[in-house]
Amino acid sequence: MERLQKVIANLGYASRRKAEELIVAGKVAVNGQIITELGTKVSENDVISIDGEIINKNIKYEYYVLNKPRQVISSVTDPAGRKTVVDLIATEARIYPVGRLDYNTTGLIILTNDGDFANHLMHPSNNIAKTYVAKVEGLITKEQILQIKKGIVIDNRKVNVSKLKIKNKDFNHNTSLIEITITEGRNHIVKKLFETLKLPVLKLSRIQYGFLTLDNLKSGEYRMLSLKEVKKFYSL
Ligand code: URA
Repeated sequence: MERLQKVIANLGYASRRKAEELIVAGKVAVNGQIITELGTKVSENDVISIDGEIINKNIKYEYYVLNKPRQVISSVTDPAGRKTVVDLIATEARIYPVGRLDYNTTGLIILTNDGDFANHLMHPSNNIAKTYVAKVEGLITKEQILQIKKGIVIDNRKVNVSKLKIKNKDFNHNTSLIEITITEGRNHIVKKLFETLKLPVLKLSRIQYGFLTLDNLKSGEYRMLSLKEVKKFYSL
């Protein structure tokens, strides 16, 4: 049994806050009965409808991996009218991104309408490794590398870096190209980490999420995940 607002949000129909508003406004029915109580719990067998439209029947789960271009926002809609990751995928399903990449960050992002799968991927206890390539301003030093490996504290919590590779130091342009693998999902975490070291991030791209890489997906391209890949995430 789960709270009605959580189930609505997991179905990708609305954010949890919006779902609460819909419930209070008397727009949500469970098994044909309007529910306005926020604590109401429902099971898989309950039929949920919003404004008379059933939202949890014959749900076909879809899973995508997208190579996100720059200047695309990682959400379902944008009040400012910017292009979203969902706009790039041709489907009728109510998919949403799992976690976020910043507006100007490129690379691998997963989208789905399966709330359990999204929760599984984002749950901190699952520690899924994410690898980024960052181009930073400045030439990273040995001391800074050691500092990162020891664990830099951001907002009272250490950033757990499981791999760090210096791919290039460009002495002419005063930049460094760094591959970094972290096992957490705080927003802007890579930028914050390098900012702490006075190495501002100029470009950022995510190249791996768990075992998943972009392979030959070009910017803006996507593909569906296979059932085998979805299952593999559960077995990590
Ligand atoms: N860390 C960041 O700073 N930005 C991203 O988009 C992802 C991780």
